Amino acid sequence: MPTPALDAAALEKLVSAAVAAPSIHNSQPWRFRLQPATSVLEVRADRSRAVPAADPQGRALHISVGAAVLNLRVAARHLGWAPEVRLLPDPVEPELFATVRLDTRAAVAVPGSEKLYEAIWRRHSIRTPFTGEPVPPTVLGELVAAARAEDATLDLPDHGETARLLDLTAEAERRNTTDPAQRTESRSWVRTGDAPPYGIPVAALGPQDLAGHLPMRDFTAIHAAEHQAPVLFEREPRIAVLITEHDTPQDWLRAGLALEHVLLAATVHGVRASLLHQALEWPYLRWEARDPHRRPGYVQILIRLGYGPEGAPTPRLAADEVLDPELRTV
Ligand SMILES: Cc1cc2nc3c(=O)[nH]c(=O)nc-3n(C[C@H](O)[C@H](O)[C@H](O)COP(=O)(O)O)c2cc1C
Repeated sequence: MPTPALDAAALEKLVSAAVAAPSIHNSQPWRFRLQPATSVLEVRADRSRAVPAADPQGRALHISVGAAVLNLRVAARHLGWAPEVRLLPDPVEPELFATVRLDTRAAVAVPGSEKLYEAIWRRHSIRTPFTGEPVPPTVLGELVAAARAEDATLDLPDHGETARLLDLTAEAERRNTTDPAQRTESRSWVRTGDAPPYGIPVAALGPQDLAGHLPMRDFTAIHAAEHQAPVLFEREPRIAVLITEHDTPQDWLRAGLALEHVLLAATVHGVRASLLHQALEWPYLRWEARDPHRRPGYVQILIRLGYGPEGAPTPRLAADEVLDPELRTV
């Protein structure tokens, strides 16, 4: 069988899948460029949409781009390639975050890959209450395996540790909503009306937890006019903690691949998710988020899992807006 054609239609499909990934504040901080001679798709950071107050190191930016790379890999397999992904392949060009080589036909289908591909289009962040029905251990086991496949660890804390992590998140949330730089930045990513296709539409925001157990991010930063009335969230939230062994830019990208692999695997099982990143935005709180009873590691993000509505897509820049214009033609 011949290798699939890397034509304009395939490129459009690949990039559309990539941009469906989650990103901090829906900032979509990525650009793509095809090198037709080598069939390599390059993925670069686009720092014009960075979020410096929440993410001064660019760690969350790397996680976001890593999530897009996972989608690219899954979409490339769907189209019939055996993609070869390299992270930070060129030490002299640190903004080249990844390359995906597309010149080899897949010999065999990777089990489960098609379901992951379909899930790309159904995965959305859900910021409303979940039903409280527990996620079965077999499903949680699959999510742990999904993170492990990307060289990351997904921890499932017990009740006490979950409460401790949510306390740290609540403390971060208090700081985020009172810190002038953070709250101005967070508000600037909330979109109303005719806005560019990035940032978070008001319709995708959720209420706060009436009981105060689940510190959901307040993107409107206590702007009363846009607040929904608080409601009760699930009493026993299932939180999963994504951890990497080290804390280099390469680890952050790996965390992004792992995050999206976990989220897609959850979507396959009808499990919804939202992300709680607030505590990881303050160095002291991030340090505290490490579980002192477990082996060392760096917490990258908290994932809240459960059952609820599927949700709706949020806007994305079109594929041709994030493809390098000069080299777009194939
Ligand atoms: C690194 C990172 C951090 C995020 N942090 C939060 C968060 O703290 N709270 C939240 O509600 N969503 C968070 N998100 C989710 C994004 O807001 C979401 O992916 C984006 O708005 C696009 O929406 P979608 O996930 O429904 O496609 C985060 C996403 C990433 C990749």
